[in-house]
Amino acid sequence: MTENIKHFIDLDDFSKIDLRNLLDQCHERKNSKKRSGKAEVDNDACGQDKILAMIFEKPSTRTRFSFETAMYQLGGKSIVASSNDMQLNRGETISDTAKVLSKYVDIAMLRTNEHSTITEFASNSSIPVINGLSDRSHPCQVLADLMTFEENRGQINGKIVTWFGPGNNMTHSWIHAASLLDFELRICSPENFGASEDIIKKAKKEGANIIENISPQDAAKNSHCIVTDTWFSMGDKEDDSKRKILEKFQVTEALINIAEDNVIFLHCLPAHRGEEVTAEVIDGSKSYVWDEAENRLHAQKGIINWCLGE
Ligand code: CP
Ligand code: NVA
Repeated sequence: MTENIKHFIDLDDFSKIDLRNLLDQCHERKNSKKRSGKAEVDNDACGQDKILAMIFEKPSTRTRFSFETAMYQLGGKSIVASSNDMQLNRGETISDTAKVLSKYVDIAMLRTNEHSTITEFASNSSIPVINGLSDRSHPCQVLADLMTFEENRGQINGKIVTWFGPGNNMTHSWIHAASLLDFELRICSPENFGASEDIIKKAKKEGANIIENISPQDAAKNSHCIVTDTWFSMGDKEDDSKRKILEKFQVTEALINIAEDNVIFLHCLPAHRGEEVTAEVIDGSKSYVWDEAENRLHAQKGIINWCLGE
């Protein structure tokens, strides 16, 4: 990657202190302004005269709208494109695209099928690059999740976060966070549908407290935060035999009742009620999914500011 450019590609690219500082800055920016209109610019206008480009290879609601709103609120502008509408769709390389966009805009966000597309773009760009979700990770979302936990329950260090369902890009970013923020991460996934063993191994080596191979009941016990996600990520083939295996990993009221009394439930959305979570849980009093979605906006602002900073 080009040296001295602040890319936001994975949480474990951060040091402990830098991730803590970024999270604190996200909280601070969220709390520092009473907004009279959603397009009102933050006092520091740290995105003024800057343009963000976004390229989507996959659909998005939250990421697209929160980044675009974030750029308005930072005083800048954004340009959004589907990769299908670009020359990428006709074979132009990602490296040439990165070199060209670096001439027009100040920062780029990519949502890609393959993680290597983001790293290749970053290697060829002279502007900061943000990972807006890849098959490997979803760091912007987990930053928003961390904000949501902390603003409601205090600092996450020392707490227990439990993941239910297949290992995926979200699980991987939670694992990265666990290697930096000193909370216990329990991963309750079925055999053969777990998170990447390489990512777990690396995080454990770096000191992450990760518990695997645990029954849903044991996993839920004493949890401060229960997290799940769709059983089929974008690009996955839907498969009824996998659905059947996952049934016992559904987040139900019974599991929530085993956790700490003040447990919070998170889901990055979009959700599939009746699959990974019951309607009574996601629409119930322990669910913070709407705050979590809101925090995408505040987290993106912190990320953009960090990337554009010295
Ligand atoms: N959670 C999330 O990234 O949502 P979108 O796919 O709608 O952007
Ligand atoms: N794991 C999901 C997250 C969606 C925001 C996916 O990749 O589709």
